[in-house]
Amino acid sequence: MAITITELCATFAAEVSKINISKELSDDAVDELRTAIDKYGVLVFRDQPLSDEQQVRFSEYFGDIEIADLKNNITKTSERRLSQMFSDISNLDKDQNILEKDGRQRLFNLGNRIWHSDSSFRPVPARYSLLSARAVPVAGGDTQYADMHAAYDSLDAKTLTEISDLQCEHSLLYSRARLGMAEFTEQEKADFTPVTQPLVRTHPSTKRKSLFLSSHIGSVIGLTKPDGRLLIEELTEFATQEKFVYTHRWQKDDLVMWDNRRTMHRARKYEDTVEKRDLRRTTIAGEPAR
Ligand code: OGA
Ligand code: MN
Repeated sequence: MAITITELCATFAAEVSKINISKELSDDAVDELRTAIDKYGVLVFRDQPLSDEQQVRFSEYFGDIEIADLKNNITKTSERRLSQMFSDISNLDKDQNILEKDGRQRLFNLGNRIWHSDSSFRPVPARYSLLSARAVPVAGGDTQYADMHAAYDSLDAKTLTEISDLQCEHSLLYSRARLGMAEFTEQEKADFTPVTQPLVRTHPSTKRKSLFLSSHIGSVIGLTKPDGRLLIEELTEFATQEKFVYTHRWQKDDLVMWDNRRTMHRARKYEDTVEKRDLRRTTIAGEPAR
C-alpha cells in the first residue's frame, strides 16, 4: 500500500500514514520520506511502537547519528538511562524514577521549554531529530514547531537587509543561563565554548532561506550585547506567531521527525514531578550551516 501524506498546517508539517517504520523500508519508501521531509520540515508518524534498535535503524536511513557525548549535555551525575545513540528527553533517571524537583538534571532539561534548534551550539549543528514517545503524560507536554522558512519569507525588506550577513554566537550554557542557571564546571565551560553560526541560512537541498534562531544564541557579532539580544528576541517573537506554529499533542508510540535546518521547537509544560514522560531522541548530524 502506498504511503499517505496529509498536510497538518498551512505552510509546513504533515502526517505520514500507511507505513510501518519498525520494518526495513524499500528504497522507494525512503525516497518518498526524504522528499516529504524537505517539503514539510516536520513529519508525524502515529502508532509506531519502536524498540531502541528499530528507532536507530529507521533514523539511519537519513544520515549518521550524532552521538550524545559530553559535548551534548551537562555532566551527568548518574549513569545514563539510554545508550549514547540517544538524547534522553524524559523526566526519568536510570532507575526509571522521576527526577528530583531541584536536581540539576531536571533544571537543565527545563531548557527545552525555550524555542531552539537542536545542537545549534555544536560546530556542525543537527540535521534531523527523531523523537519517539514511549510514555506520555495525561495532560500537557505538547511539543511546538515553528516554520523558519515561512517566517523568513514574511520579513520586511529593511529587516532582511539588516540581518542578511549577521553571525551569532551559540552555546548550550547561554540557553541555561537564560533560566538562571549560572554554575558551570570548568569542563562544561570548555565543552561549550561558543560557536559561530549565520543568522540566515540556506537549506542545502531546497535552497530556501531561513532564520537560524535558537535559545542557545548569546550574542550577535558586531552588535552590543543588548542590541544583539533584542534583535534575537524580536525575530523570535515574529517567527513564532501562531500562523507559523504547529503544536503536536503526543500519543504514546508517536514518532515525530523534524528538520532543524528549517524549524525551531520547544516543549510545553506538564506535571513533570508527578507524571512520567518518556521521549527518546535520535539525532542526525548535519553539515556546517551556510
Ligand atoms: C528535543 C526537544 C521538546 C519536548 O527532543 O530536542 O527539545 O517536547 N523536545 O520534549
Ligand atoms: Mn530540542
